[in-house]
Amino acid sequence: MLAKFLSKAISSKCLLVRGYASKPYTTQELVDVSNRYLLGVYKKPNIILHKGMGALVEDLDGNSYLDLTAGIAVTSLGHGNTDIAVALMEQAQKVISTSNLFHNENAGPLAEKLVNSTAYPGNPNEPWAYQAFFTNSGAEANEAALKFARKTGFQSGQDNKYGITAFQNAFHGRTLGALSVTPKKGLPRGV
Ligand SMILES: Cc1ncc(COP(=O)(O)O)c(C=O)c1O
Repeated sequence: MLAKFLSKAISSKCLLVRGYASKPYTTQELVDVSNRYLLGVYKKPNIILHKGMGALVEDLDGNSYLDLTAGIAVTSLGHGNTDIAVALMEQAQKVISTSNLFHNENAGPLAEKLVNSTAYPGNPNEPWAYQAFFTNSGAEANEAALKFARKTGFQSGQDNKYGITAFQNAFHGRTLGALSVTPKKGLPRGV
């Protein structure tokens, strides 16, 4: 029942960007308002992506595209996925966020699944991972990886074994730690 309602809502106009606005916006108006009020981090094409199904997305003007970016590799289960929508809605109706100051009923079991999934097929009882670390963004994940690597270097007992080697043209995110291993070309002074 819930799944049916959600899939109807997703394919109808119920979940439009317009839900946030007091009047319907045209594509150009939305582009203009975004450029005016959102801090610009990337140059974006003048389309407004509005809904999708699987690997296809559609803009406000009804043009369809094959989504080859997948949210920069974070929407691997596709757009308009009813199972995801139902899970999000069910959780939002219970408790929306507990921060990382409290346990909740999902994070532990998910970490357990992830850790156990790193076991080699011939050796199911010996995953190579020990624990999972959940973050909100790629930059934080890379930031954590840098810290883990540096800590491991310090704990190795060998002096100064905490430098990080980075490739030219690499990108790791916009936190200061991630930027510290990002070649500076093109970054504004002071960043
Ligand atoms: C290769 C790479 N690393 C890290 C990041 C940072 O991810 P996020 O934007 O989620 O912080 C990005 C995002 O553009 C990326 O493309």
